Amino acid sequence: MKANIAIIGTGGTIAGRGESSVNTSAYACSVVSVDEILSGIPELASLANLQAEQLLQMGSENFATEHLLLLGSRISRLLQQDHVDGVVVTHGTDTIDETAYFLHLTLKSMKPVVVVGSMRPPSALSPDGPLNLYNAILVASSPASRGKGTLVVSNDEIHTARDVVKTSTFKLESFRSPYGPLGYVVEGMPRYYREPARSHTLETPWSIEEIDRLPEVGIVYAHGGIDAGMVDAVTNARMSGIVYAATGNGNVAEHVVGALLRARREGLHVVRASRTGSGVVIRNGAQPDDKYDWLVVDDQAPQKARILLMLALTREARSAELQRMFHRY
Ligand code: SIN
Repeated sequence: MKANIAIIGTGGTIAGRGESSVNTSAYACSVVSVDEILSGIPELASLANLQAEQLLQMGSENFATEHLLLLGSRISRLLQQDHVDGVVVTHGTDTIDETAYFLHLTLKSMKPVVVVGSMRPPSALSPDGPLNLYNAILVASSPASRGKGTLVVSNDEIHTARDVVKTSTFKLESFRSPYGPLGYVVEGMPRYYREPARSHTLETPWSIEEIDRLPEVGIVYAHGGIDAGMVDAVTNARMSGIVYAATGNGNVAEHVVGALLRARREGLHVVRASRTGSGVVIRNGAQPDDKYDWLVVDDQAPQKARILLMLALTREARSAELQRMFHRY
């Protein structure tokens, strides 16, 4: 029996169109409707019973917290319907890793949710969107995908939303997880080789149904010669937290420490992360976090640490508990 899969269109390159078939990097995004995308892939009809809706039509760089909440609520309502077996979201690739992680932490269902995009628009020579979407629907339809939280399917790989990040502006193999994908889709069959290690969906304290707003958290990207005023700008904007994407293993330049201490005094939580792209930031390693009452990110990318801190702050203000969340999710 075919699975019933709900598809939600939100825009991105997978909904893009170039002036010519050789436009693989310069093209209009978010112009093709989800119905048009689906009708361009006749092979989908034999995979699953599909119902599609256009929730948003925008580049994912424009996604704000209100869009995360809107999308999460809609998916949650669909997952509660008995006849829906899984949900696929078509999404721009730029912030797909942030949206997917947000859904991974806030949806309350065993049913598969797959977020999918493409690096080339459907109008390009060798577009990747049709196969990515085909594979995403296969993954969402598979009983083997139940209980794995939100997944990102790209370039024949199945990634857990917790780990995956976009690593290239144009390559088809842009999506990488530091510990590798959970599995692959080969010849129409999802093949899993490992499980998400960290708590998600049913095992988190956050339910999309209970969140109506998220606190603001800013990211400051460190570099040689950084002006400490970058940190002050986040503090002065009355945000609730700063993720400091530090150099190396979480090093903070001496002249920036004072600005981060001031941020903490003013009530913002400070999280030391790394701009390197992989690896762990150790508590009390490069900086005395206990003394400063700062947090460390564990191994998360700064943009995902921001999502986690926003969610964490909806339930918790105590530093020790916030730190525990970074080591758990
Ligand atoms: C976007 O993220 O919406 C634009 C880029 C893409 O989808 O690849």
